[in-house]
Amino acid sequence: MQSQSLAIEMAGLTKQFGRHRAVDTLNLAVHPGSVFGFLGPNGAGKTTTIRMLLGLIRPTQGSARILGHDIERERAAILPHVGAIVESPAFYPILSGRDNLRVFARTAGNEDGSNIARVLEQVGLSNRAKDKVTTPHGYKPGASRGKPTLCSPRALIFRAAFRSRSISRRQQGQ
Ligand SMILES: Nc1ncnc2c1ncn2[C@@H]1O[C@H](COP(=O)(O)OP(=O)(O)OP(=O)(O)O)[C@@H](O)[C@H]1O
Ligand SMILES: [Mg+2]
Repeated sequence: MQSQSLAIEMAGLTKQFGRHRAVDTLNLAVHPGSVFGFLGPNGAGKTTTIRMLLGLIRPTQGSARILGHDIERERAAILPHVGAIVESPAFYPILSGRDNLRVFARTAGNEDGSNIARVLEQVGLSNRAKDKVTTPHGYKPGASRGKPTLCSPRALIFRAAFRSRSISRRQQGQ
């Protein structure tokens, strides 16, 4: 029953694209309430792993569970409780941030968009809700972070922008 207590669990997760093994026997446990950074160089297999975790592609071998639910067998039960961005989400450039979130909320079945004010507040965009999403200075990244939280998820999976130069500087103690 340990799986029941884990937010995310992967066991022997493997993906083979032809002769190329993109993900090789990955075992991973993420505990509820934790923030887990899934890092790796370009081509390491991060996106492939997330796509398997969300049931977008089938693993060659192994299994993945979210909140105790096997993604292959119980996908429909668990995905409504998962907020996720796999790559960069697309926005309608002519719409405001609020209206873009309205569209996403409707497609997620939340017709009255009751979460939108809360989401805009959380990502610090309340005072810019009417601005078009194409407005510069961090609007799109903020809206991207907000989108997967519209469904009040129990598990949140998203991309964070990262500057590799900062990492190498820190590694070098500079
Ligand atoms: N559909 C596919 N068909 C064949 N090879 C693929 C496919 N998707 C990914 N790959 C290969 O699998 C490897 C892992 O790719 P993946 O996109 O998962 O890496 P990543 O860690 O997300 O990289 P990045 O940091 O650039 O986003 C790469 O060598 C990639 O070329
Ligand atoms: Mg990727």
